Amino acid sequence: MDDLVAGTVTERDAVEAAARALAAARRVVVATGAGMSQESGIPTFRDAVSGMWSRFDPDDLATPAAFARDPARVFGWYAWRRRLMRAAEPHTGYDALVALEALVPDVVVVTQNIDGLHRRAGSRRVVELHGSLDRFVCAGALHPYPAEAVPESAADGAVAPPVCPQCGALVRPAVVWFGEMLPETAVRAAWEAAARCDVMLVVGTSGLVYPAAALPQIAGDAGATVVEVNPEADEGSWPALIRCRGRAGVVLPALVERLRRHR
Ligand code: APR
Repeated sequence: MDDLVAGTVTERDAVEAAARALAAARRVVVATGAGMSQESGIPTFRDAVSGMWSRFDPDDLATPAAFARDPARVFGWYAWRRRLMRAAEPHTGYDALVALEALVPDVVVVTQNIDGLHRRAGSRRVVELHGSLDRFVCAGALHPYPAEAVPESAADGAVAPPVCPQCGALVRPAVVWFGEMLPETAVRAAWEAAARCDVMLVVGTSGLVYPAAALPQIAGDAGATVVEVNPEADEGSWPALIRCRGRAGVVLPALVERLRRHR
């Protein structure tokens, strides 16, 4: 709350306006990106200094061609990221989204994140558009591979991927790489929820990567109130009707606290 008090009047008004929209809503979609996990210690991608893509090249680590070229390098990077994610704890912003489920009849979280933190926090309906680092499959027939058998790595060095016991193909994380299609069931669930929601909270995303970045536009075009929660005035071009300039771990608890007053 301090960040908001310190902020301009518009921040406080924005949170109040967003709380009023939530109070009148039946269906809410919370669309989250890497910024949602920043306060849990997981780096975002495009932060100029600490972002993953300022330290690593996605073409070398997050494409099917990269995995074919150097499977141990790619698998090791994800084994390192998995260790980071499993060491992270959901912050108060995640708890606020869980609390929202008791205040609004229909809440769906649609996340671009693969860290599993929404599920660990207790959100009951989570659509993982880019897959999850809690799941592994083989690169051949997509046979599931037990995540508990996957080696974790303390550094981002090479780790030889396991081999699928069913077909002999290499094991890979069940995440969406650049150039790959998003899971069909996840896309359908996300697009349906966005098209019929009354409010969409867009939290911690730069809105640069499609098709996920299309969701706020779909919601806005269908008449929803779009609320953005982000400390930066971002390049996201969606019709954010209410912009809450602040961190997820500060704004989301403030939003839920204000919503309770309207209940
Ligand atoms: N609270 C809210 N937002 C934050 C916070 C925070 N504490 N910290 C940073 N942000 C915002 C940044 O201002 C930025 O707008 O989160 C956003 C993070 O943007 P990106 O790093 O681009 O992450 P994201 O939008 O999730 O990227 C989308 O790109 O690389 C691919 O697959 C990857 O899912 C990822 C996709």
